[in-house]
Amino acid sequence: MSRPLQNSHQKTLRTSRILGVGSYVPPRIMKNDDLKDLMDTSDEWIRQRTGIEQRHWVEGTTNNSDLALIATERALESAKLRKQDIDMIVYATLSPDHDFPGTACFLQAKLELPGIPAIDVRQQCTGFIYALSIADQFIKTGAYNKILIVGSEIHSKGVNKTPEGRDVAVLFGDGAGAVILGACEGIPGPDESQLYCTQLHADGSFAKELWIEAPTHSNDGPRLSHEIIEKGLHFPSMNGKTVFVHAVKKMPEVLLEGLNESGFTLDDVDLFIFHQANLRINEMIGKQLGIPEEKIFNTIQKFGNTTAATIPLGLDEAVKAGKLKPGMLVASAAFGSGFTWASAVFRW
Ligand code: UT7
Repeated sequence: MSRPLQNSHQKTLRTSRILGVGSYVPPRIMKNDDLKDLMDTSDEWIRQRTGIEQRHWVEGTTNNSDLALIATERALESAKLRKQDIDMIVYATLSPDHDFPGTACFLQAKLELPGIPAIDVRQQCTGFIYALSIADQFIKTGAYNKILIVGSEIHSKGVNKTPEGRDVAVLFGDGAGAVILGACEGIPGPDESQLYCTQLHADGSFAKELWIEAPTHSNDGPRLSHEIIEKGLHFPSMNGKTVFVHAVKKMPEVLLEGLNESGFTLDDVDLFIFHQANLRINEMIGKQLGIPEEKIFNTIQKFGNTTAATIPLGLDEAVKAGKLKPGMLVASAAFGSGFTWASAVFRW
């Protein structure tokens, strides 16, 4: 596969770096025990199979872009920038405010930044890394200088919260994370903050292993109907075992691909911030690759799977916990619906 732009930080194009990070989860905490009557589940089942102890759920009319707005304000504060400095928005989500327009447009309006481009990325669990990669290309070429990248989800209003939906519903939580991507001044030194590379993949032949079937235009009729709702086709459905098997294969592969492309080894990495779908997935990856446990930063216990938000949320939590410090080498990998899988290697 030819990759003409890879390693471009060593050539004439600019190099990107993360200037700041922020996150937000809604205040309402749902412990595993809070789901037991709703869904005929148990704390024991959820903890043993997934490691999840609790997740956050929104209340009332809170929408996806409301979470993103707070995460953005926090990312701007951390980058010591004003919102007027943002010249593009790339927004990863599978739970948009509305089917269209994209949620990036709703966030742009809330930020009162008319005119700047606003793009939605629909890559589910790998959405944040895809968004990071897209933003990186615009920074490298000099098209934009400061790009807001958001991963934000509201799952609690979209999953089937009855015993029929429990295999999916217990896994997911609401939350948002944001970073500001900007250009390094000149060619960064080896210990300076920079994004080395992103690796992106997809295989649509597995699209139906984790998807929402409807609303859909493949119907011989309206894209949403009483029949669709009665059958529950508007809820996400997943073949969990197939997803698990592919995740533990593809995440290590794409992680090693990213490290190889950037000229690093696993030992060089100070912190691994993986997508948070299941603690067991991340533990298996750690074992497979011989990564010391303390180098993998997991947040799924507190937040569940927040899909496109897991990685920026993880970065922010790691900074707050004092585990992620300037100059550290970070490697991220994600796998999910699509199937899609991706990795990013960067220095904080
Ligand atoms: O981020 C997107 C990517 N997603 C993932 O990577 C998820 C990957 N998959 C997984 O993490 C796991 O497959 C799950 C955690 C989703 C499920 O674990 P599993 O070991 O594959 O369980 P299962 O679906 O095979 O179900 C085992 C049993 C079934 O009962 P029987 O048929 O053995 O009697 C289910 O009905 O567990 C039952 N079950 C539950 N029981 C209590 C399924 N969900 C629940 C539940 N509470 N929430």
